[in-house]
Amino acid sequence: MTLKGRSFLTLKDFTAQEIGYLLDLAADLKAKKKKGITGNSLKGKNVALIFEKPSTRTRCSFTIGCVDEGGYPEYLSRDDIQLGYKESVEDTARVLGRMFDGIEFRGFKQETVEKLAKYSGVPVWNGLTDEYHPTQILADFLTLREQFGDLKGLNLVFVGDGRNNMSNSLMIGSAKMGVNFTILAPKELWPEDSLVELCKEYAKESGCTITISEDINVVKGADALYTDVWCSMGEEDKAAERIKLLSPYQVNEDLFKLTDNDKAILLHCLPAVKGKEVTEDVFEKNADVIFDEAENRMHTIKAVMVATIGEI
Ligand code: CP
Ligand code: NVA
Repeated sequence: MTLKGRSFLTLKDFTAQEIGYLLDLAADLKAKKKKGITGNSLKGKNVALIFEKPSTRTRCSFTIGCVDEGGYPEYLSRDDIQLGYKESVEDTARVLGRMFDGIEFRGFKQETVEKLAKYSGVPVWNGLTDEYHPTQILADFLTLREQFGDLKGLNLVFVGDGRNNMSNSLMIGSAKMGVNFTILAPKELWPEDSLVELCKEYAKESGCTITISEDINVVKGADALYTDVWCSMGEEDKAAERIKLLSPYQVNEDLFKLTDNDKAILLHCLPAVKGKEVTEDVFEKNADVIFDEAENRMHTIKAVMVATIGEI
């Protein structure tokens, strides 16, 4: 299998086999790094890291992943370049494509990352948009594999803003990989019907289920609960409304009890707002796995770069 030359914009573009290949590669790179072995597969490669929105994990993962493999990362914040306001996305893309071997983009519009891919002519990786956060899903699935061995047949429940980038991408990834996926959210925050329908099609092929519910009892039988901030970056003005809608859906001890599974774990993409989407005690109980998940951002993002632009 090769993913050489491919962009990574949404998991919709990848088959279960391709996602599995990236997870295997990440696990291999992780095992090597634990032994102190880094590689040279990005030697001579330069990557641009564009960030319209802030980041800890994604930025550090691209930087360290690139340097570990012998490449050079250049960080470009919103204040460093004039993407989309003094220079068109198309023109910036054409410039960066002449200089860099790959481009990471984190920002608002999915359309921007797609334009960057179209006009740069080099692989472009989505480091989060309002719509999707596909590299995060690789880290989540690597963590689930480490915890449970296999993804197929697991029961994963996302609790919170069911129409945000995390919920959308988890639904796509789960449907592709055969993970039974549930969104627990108030109706006002359910994902778009068209995306749910598409994921149900994927789920038919992989043999899993997609469920959207506002009944907290739906967590029964979950192997893992997943939550995320109630207000994503750029939605800070919605705080009051979200607290009202989502307070009944806080991940706390009572919700965990409803899983009826004392081995159920919590995943969180981080950053977390403790006391809102998750209580401090539940978060701390699951801290080991949540920080494994954060570490896995680096191994999986490294795998994406190595697979798409590396010499392997
Ligand atoms: N989970 C995640 O993407 O974290 P950052 O916003 O810190 O990159
Ligand atoms: N939904 C969150 C994810 C952060 C990694 C946000 O977009 O802010």
